[in-house]
Amino acid sequence: MKPYFISTAIDYTNAVPHIGHTYEKILADVLARYQRLRDREVFFLTGVDQHGQKVQQAAEKQGISPQAFTNALSQEFLNLWKELGISYDAWASTTDPIHKSVVQKILSHLLEKGWLYKASYQGYYSVRQEQFLTDKERGVDGAFGDQWGEVVFLEEENWYFRLSKCHSWLLSFLEKTPNFVTPSFRQSELKNAVLKMNGDLCISRPKSRLSWGIELPFDPEFVVYVWFDALINYISFAGYLQEESKNHFSTLWPCDAHLIGKDILIPAHGIYWPCMLHAMGFSDDQMPHLLVHGFWTLNGEKISKSTGNVFDVHQAIQRFGLAALRYYLMRDVVMGRDADFSEERLLSRYHAELSNGLGNLLNRSLGMVSRYRPEGLLRVSLTEECTTLLEEHLNLVHRYCKEMDSSLVHAGLETMVEIVTRTNVFIDTTAPWKLAKEPDQESRLSAVLMTLLQSIRIAATLILPITPDAGAKILSQLALEPLVLRDEIIIPELPEKYFAGRATPVFPRLLEELSTDATISPK
Ligand code: ME8
Ligand code: MG
Repeated sequence: MKPYFISTAIDYTNAVPHIGHTYEKILADVLARYQRLRDREVFFLTGVDQHGQKVQQAAEKQGISPQAFTNALSQEFLNLWKELGISYDAWASTTDPIHKSVVQKILSHLLEKGWLYKASYQGYYSVRQEQFLTDKERGVDGAFGDQWGEVVFLEEENWYFRLSKCHSWLLSFLEKTPNFVTPSFRQSELKNAVLKMNGDLCISRPKSRLSWGIELPFDPEFVVYVWFDALINYISFAGYLQEESKNHFSTLWPCDAHLIGKDILIPAHGIYWPCMLHAMGFSDDQMPHLLVHGFWTLNGEKISKSTGNVFDVHQAIQRFGLAALRYYLMRDVVMGRDADFSEERLLSRYHAELSNGLGNLLNRSLGMVSRYRPEGLLRVSLTEECTTLLEEHLNLVHRYCKEMDSSLVHAGLETMVEIVTRTNVFIDTTAPWKLAKEPDQESRLSAVLMTLLQSIRIAATLILPITPDAGAKILSQLALEPLVLRDEIIIPELPEKYFAGRATPVFPRLLEELSTDATISPK
């Protein structure tokens, strides 16, 4: 079977990593780890987008070369992904010689097939967005809005990609592929944009204006437009057009999920990218699938380096711990929708569902096992109350898989919370402390304790992709293996004589002072 191929947008190296980048990488990591838990092979690609005008300008400002500038920032991203436990398999950095050569091969190929032409153009140009503007970018007052930054009038010759030739193909492709983009409301937005699309795509920049990019192989006075270069990362780092690894590419492609934020769906990933692939000769069933997430704000406001509304991820990990941060980011947002970072909500989710929820259940249960069965818990056959509970749990595990297969991590986690809640109710109704006092209930007590251990094993399995370290700690205290989530899910038997590990808090309550001081100091 083909590995599950997931990629995230490659991060611009003209900005420090922020909460949006952090969220996207954790989400991709969770989906990748979930696939591994399902016993599927995974290829998880991520990286950095290093070319373009903004990088060149930022480097000039610091008086260093663009390569030195991007190297330093790439390192920051690399360090952070390590700290966050992001389990990627391949790193895409667009200054990599392999990537450059693939981009150049693609360009030569497109030129040969008549997809590229050179023409002169004059018009208004946004330096910030690195694009020419047309009248449709003007506001009601006739002026170009603030979002375009500095706007200058330019005339220049450039190379163009015949995007307009793909117009009717793209429309019919969207029509027959309703799940090209998830969530579906984003596909509707895309379709509306495609209906309005016109003109070709300028894919070059003259070196006189921008030299920090990949040179056109057939016209050395030009470099490639940064988006045309960056989008190709998804195939260049998967082995495309590389002799020795050709087979490797055919086993990976198409990508199951390009994970991107909503701002880069239109036009880059939703229009340019499928049209580029179509022109390169990819068939309709070789098109990737786009998974689009929403945007994070911080304390109700846009994240912005210039206003200082930036979230320091390192500091957050130190304050809350990695498990709390990863759990909150996955639990408190509906996939595809926007979200606002709130320290209060992080603390309340963490305390309610992890410290007092799963963590406390683990402590209580291991405590009872060692108290009531200090010589080891001998395996007995389960009573009906026990098998009923475990069956209910298994139904929830199937629901978890269904939600996770649809990338709805928040809904997947809901089933984990429900398993914990039901198990706590089970403890209250079976009251093991009473059973322990009644000699004729010995076997029932053993069955109840076994069921508690199995219930926690199940909940710990479900949380593994989200908080891998904490999940592993729980399983090691249980001294049990996680479930394997194949199509048919089997709960392995406990050993004939079971000894629990020592219970130590996996989700310690966070300092009370954190609960009252509800701000994160800006960087
Ligand atoms: O767009 N909330 O890079 P980037 C959630 N290099 N996600 C956010 C966000 C926020 N506030 N801000 C940004 C680029 N993102 C290009 C991509 S891919 C061939 C090239 C997401 O650093 C954004 O949507 O601006 C994108 O998916 C990713 O972070 C990188 O954004
Ligand atoms: Mg961006």
